[in-house]
Amino acid sequence: MTCERMTALEVWWRAFAPPEAVDSARALYALTPRWSSGNLPFVDVPYDPARVAHWADAARVADYAAALPSGGTRILDFGPGDGWPALPLAAALPRARVVGVDPAPRRVEVCVANARRLALGNAAFATGDGAALPFASASFDLVTASQSLEETRDPSAVLAEIARVLRPGGVLRASYQVWTLPARRFETVTLVEGRDLDGADALLYTYAVRCQEPPRERRYVLVLPREGEAAAVHAQALVASADAPRAYGETLLTRRSPLGAPLLRHLAPFARRSYVVELHRWTTAWLVQALRRAGFAEVRATVHAGDLARSFARAAIARGDLDALAPHFEVITRALGEAAAQQPGESMVTAVR
Ligand SMILES: C[S@@+](CC[C@H](N)C(=O)[O-])C[C@H]1O[C@@H](n2cnc3c(N)ncnc32)[C@H](O)[C@@H]1O
Repeated sequence: MTCERMTALEVWWRAFAPPEAVDSARALYALTPRWSSGNLPFVDVPYDPARVAHWADAARVADYAAALPSGGTRILDFGPGDGWPALPLAAALPRARVVGVDPAPRRVEVCVANARRLALGNAAFATGDGAALPFASASFDLVTASQSLEETRDPSAVLAEIARVLRPGGVLRASYQVWTLPARRFETVTLVEGRDLDGADALLYTYAVRCQEPPRERRYVLVLPREGEAAAVHAQALVASADAPRAYGETLLTRRSPLGAPLLRHLAPFARRSYVVELHRWTTAWLVQALRRAGFAEVRATVHAGDLARSFARAAIARGDLDALAPHFEVITRALGEAAAQQPGESMVTAVR
């Protein structure tokens, strides 16, 4: 079953709620008040060495910081979401100036508010699309990207733009999702709160179909009012989804699930908007080739600093060493972050201009 053929739910979706084809920034990131659920280490909550995820995030920040070429100060963070890694990076490198660029105005608003709350005067944010960056050529020493390159409509055009704004010898350090699925094709739904483009409170019902070959993801979004019958149906569905199996943090859609066509039929008459986003996904080999084609002289795929730190923290917890290591959180996560970029692997890439 490939992605060229539509799933039964996609056929229903196109019939009941004909979707407008848009990019991910408009359909997903512009509608979510908090991309990261208000739980981002450093940005929303202070680092806590008792939590494995915090070791991972601190090591990832150290990894990005270590990628700044010596003497460099100008950093562009591509697609920062709620300010990650732009904000912790600005704190880690007080002499640097970090600019985050994101096409979703709501993401930029959240980043600006977070920078102000954290009193980070060396972090600024701008609205702009990665395929036409609003910056002069050769104006950055480092470009960072965390799970954002793959959210763009035309990744090859985006890589060429990043090459343009980096000065010769400048570095792109990016983390990305390796497209290795647990099944050749699988479907998920999510039921969350959102905010419509006009600022009105909204509820979102989203459906994603992911395929291994060709590597693609199609994501459908129904924007619903946060009151009346739509809200009641949405709330009931949320309860039903709690018991269903999950994948990638979303509810897996099984064949006779009430969360598929039956739910769509109920909700479609209330929809304020219906969107579809098509994303091209990739393997590490594709990304490495695409970076070379975009003009990067040296490209290395490496392990993910977060994965390295997560295994370190889990082993420390298992050995009962966490209390002894916690006072050295900063120095250890820095060492792990610096080590990751040197180790061949997948999930992160360094590309030198
Ligand atoms: C998965 S989120 C990652 C956010 C953040 N970097 C993090 O790791 O938490 C993807 C981000 O990429 C942004 N994005 C989508 N399309 C983009 C484009 N064409 N140019 C720049 N950023 C884009 C989205 O708006 C969103 O903020």
